[in-house]
Amino acid sequence: MALAAARARTLRALSLPRPPARVPVPARSCCSQAGARGALPPGEYRAWRERAARDPAGFWADAARGWLRWDSPFHTAWQPCAPAGSARWFLGGRLNVSVNCLDQHVEKSPNRVALIWERDEPGTAVHVTYRELLDLTCRLANTLKKYGIQKGDRVAIYMSVSPLSVAAMLACARIGAVHNVVFAGFSAESLAGRIMDSGCKAVITYNQGVRGGRTTELKATVDEAVKNCPSIRHVFVAQRTDNKVQMGDRDISLEEEMTKADSICTPESMDSEDMLFMLYTSGSTGKPKGIIHTQAGYLLYAAFTHKYVFDYQQGDIFGCVADIGWITGHSYVVYGPLCNGATSVLFESTPVYPDPGRYWEVVQRLKINQFYGAPTAIRLLLNYGEEWVKKYDRSSLKVLGSVGEPINKEAWQWFYEVVGEGRCALVDTWWQTETGGICIAPRPSEEKAEIIPAMAMRPFFGIVPVLMDENGEVIEGNDVSGALCIAQPWPGMARTIHGDHQRFIDSYFKAFPGYYFTGDSAYRSQKGYYQITGRMDDIINISGHRLGTAEIEDAMADHPDVPETAVVGYPHKIKGEGAFAFIVLKEQTPRVDHIKEELKTIVASKIAKYAVPDHILVVKRLPKTRSGKIMRRLLRKVVTEQSSNMGDVTTLDDPSVVKEIMDAYQKYKEKSSS
Ligand code: WTA
Repeated sequence: MALAAARARTLRALSLPRPPARVPVPARSCCSQAGARGALPPGEYRAWRERAARDPAGFWADAARGWLRWDSPFHTAWQPCAPAGSARWFLGGRLNVSVNCLDQHVEKSPNRVALIWERDEPGTAVHVTYRELLDLTCRLANTLKKYGIQKGDRVAIYMSVSPLSVAAMLACARIGAVHNVVFAGFSAESLAGRIMDSGCKAVITYNQGVRGGRTTELKATVDEAVKNCPSIRHVFVAQRTDNKVQMGDRDISLEEEMTKADSICTPESMDSEDMLFMLYTSGSTGKPKGIIHTQAGYLLYAAFTHKYVFDYQQGDIFGCVADIGWITGHSYVVYGPLCNGATSVLFESTPVYPDPGRYWEVVQRLKINQFYGAPTAIRLLLNYGEEWVKKYDRSSLKVLGSVGEPINKEAWQWFYEVVGEGRCALVDTWWQTETGGICIAPRPSEEKAEIIPAMAMRPFFGIVPVLMDENGEVIEGNDVSGALCIAQPWPGMARTIHGDHQRFIDSYFKAFPGYYFTGDSAYRSQKGYYQITGRMDDIINISGHRLGTAEIEDAMADHPDVPETAVVGYPHKIKGEGAFAFIVLKEQTPRVDHIKEELKTIVASKIAKYAVPDHILVVKRLPKTRSGKIMRRLLRKVVTEQSSNMGDVTTLDDPSVVKEIMDAYQKYKEKSSS
């Protein structure tokens, strides 16, 4: 009864006709081995870890055979990478990712719930079964095909999280198109940049987005973006709200087309190493880079980590509250959980809407078993007090997870003690857009192995972390810190940067030849556990959103009165890090406050609202070396109030600039606290 009602609600919400009673699944050869998906017997973890490190090809070949459904088996598990950065996995194999995420589950349990869409308005959750999601995916795939989207074409998805946006991703996978999901908070200019760099043929969007009780104009932003994108032929517009938006020549009503489309779409058989998606992320210099993930290796790694890091068991309700616009949403809202046949929660709202009890009310109502979120939300919520948590029953929770940025001890303790009642494992998971899935986390481990607060701790199966010193030498032993590298490829690692393989090599494989360099530094404890200590480059992490300070500087450079800027990160109590901008004005002017506001508007419109600097300080000049390079290191010392220890300033063109900036900062602080 409940299921039927839920399905009826879903279909109403998506305004689509009922799916056929049975969805025929195309016959396909299958070489998956039964039984490989169960929980590991106690004591096996160490053996698995050792084998994965010693014999990655054998370990991952077994995993891939047991885990994925193949159209034709691979002949070679792993092509070791020479030169570095060119590893390939499961060569010769063919498969379809959407079949792995949908059809194989529809065959066995079509009415299992695949997605629970927790919409912005509490109490309006929509349940979507695997059969319904396959239906949506096929209709959407056929719609894309009808409008000329083919294998290899790129499709931008600019949507808030919903079953339709998941179906859009899977529809691309079904026909072999490459999705490029752009976080729906990015500005028109950011969207346009990503569309142009990747050469997308179409965009899929909503008329509006809904979040925290407010609507956002997604279609209008797309209109603005595609004005300058000649590659775009069609814009597919779905309805998230009842409000009408203006439809132009290239706009197509997505639901209308889907209603007419066939609900069966033969999946494209893809090579293991064909592109699955690209996702733009910030680098320390230059424009955001289109990180490319391929089919089999990525899917296997997302599914495998989902299972073992979170101890996912069949029937669990998996609640990752990330947006699909980030890699966390790709791997742990969509691909990992769906490949494992899980029920995945899609969270459209915010942690404080309509009140700060929202997460825990959802946990109670949906009976969530694993809750995976960002430290920034935890830091925000702990300020509201425990009552908001304790009001709700959290007995369904088994595992809690943290991702995207360092979690401080206070937030960790609160999450563990207050939310998890001291009985749930809390896993601090370290990984990156480039790694495809979790690389360092307290799990996998034996069930009762110790978890140390605020520490990522153990490498996942097949991950071999090493710490490097400044001379590029591996640091042996424990109780040491260094640059975090990974010594051996794993299936989920990114294969390249779209259109710029050299940048891929330069960014990740040049600093420490033969190793993947993460850009992070880490500490290895006495016991050999890893703790991530921060970025080593000019990337900052605002509320878990990764951003290059150079991107903010580039945006501000558009202001005619501001010839020079330098942006650094500073510690922020809730956001983790915030942006602090130093600017030089062309000439003295009484319009300083006005200019600062203009700069904020420019950053919001060129990047996104979250990128806007919290502080803008006017200085006479920036600290530069004799060769003209800005020494951001010194500015970082100023804003983190460590100016007593400036380090080596001998390369500065004029060392007196340091005192000048410190004085300006002091004055600014006094002014803002008065
Ligand atoms: C940071 C997000 C500390 C790190 C999945 C990394 C973390 C960057 C953690 C990647 C963690 C991610 N502890 N720092 N548990 N997880 N980071 O690509 O600096 O958006 O390099 O991927 O976030 O961010 P990205």
